Amino acid sequence: MRRRSALTVLAALTALLAACSDDAPSVLSPNGDEAHRLAGVSWLLFGLGALVYVVVAGLVVAALTRGRRAERPSRWPAGRWIVVGGIAVPAVVLALLAVVTVDATADLRRAADDELVIEVVGKRWWWEVRYPDAGVVTANEVHVPVGEPVRIDLVSDNISHSFWVPELAGKVDLVPGQPNQLRVTADGPGEHLGMCAEYCGIQHANMRFLVVAEPRADFDRWLDEQAADAAEPSGARATRGRDLVVSSSCGGCHTVRGTTATGRLGPDLTHVASRARLGAGVADADRAGFLEWVGDPHDPKPGVLMPDVPLTDDQLDAVVAYLLELR
Ligand code: CUA
Repeated sequence: MRRRSALTVLAALTALLAACSDDAPSVLSPNGDEAHRLAGVSWLLFGLGALVYVVVAGLVVAALTRGRRAERPSRWPAGRWIVVGGIAVPAVVLALLAVVTVDATADLRRAADDELVIEVVGKRWWWEVRYPDAGVVTANEVHVPVGEPVRIDLVSDNISHSFWVPELAGKVDLVPGQPNQLRVTADGPGEHLGMCAEYCGIQHANMRFLVVAEPRADFDRWLDEQAADAAEPSGARATRGRDLVVSSSCGGCHTVRGTTATGRLGPDLTHVASRARLGAGVADADRAGFLEWVGDPHDPKPGVLMPDVPLTDDQLDAVVAYLLELR
């Protein structure tokens, strides 16, 4: 009976561990210089913790099985156990960890020459992404060149959020009135999921973003495309959509550069169809995703600040036709 209980517990633990191995980004799969450094510190913490656990558990087992001291005199008096095991060993372990973590923290904050500066503003519940030198404003997608140091300036104009891309770097909070910085250096091309790691309200869980690391030439091309004004609509349907966007409430909250839509409350839509996802990760940026998101943003994202826009099916179709051309 006892063996069966033990097997049940073991099976449950195995299932829990298996749940860790899905597609969720992990700090133990580092893809950037800073993440490699943090993973190294994590493994050192784990290794030392495991070593201390094994030694202490071994001593407990020895104490339980050896019997009383009076029956079998010990070579080590009790006072020496306390000095060595309670003071000396913890002092050495904690001093080692202090040196390693303080050194890593200082390195992660060190500015590099010619670092690319990106500004990220935490919104409810999405991310505004700015490239000040290029005059680019986008949302929920951060592109970085591979192998180059990037400084991300993090601010919030509402409440606290936390910017976390587990595969690239540690998390850093976005605090109103307190600009913070995070440095990342991606070590290869790839896409990395990021998320808000500080509870910030009803849609905290749907405040995701993507970091796209790409070779320098691809990054430059992307930045040039993002800096351009919005494309002119290609046909009558998209033109009708454009007219609806700039004349309806859409343009009051969103900017489409090159048109009269200059709102600043919601994400910049100038190149919205070039992004992978809509609504900070709740829908794909394809026709079905746009129809779902623009048609009723409260369905995939209850509590979203985007109001329902009263559009007929035909108007919605025209608006989506236009948005799909904003590449
Ligand atoms: Cu923003 Cu949680």
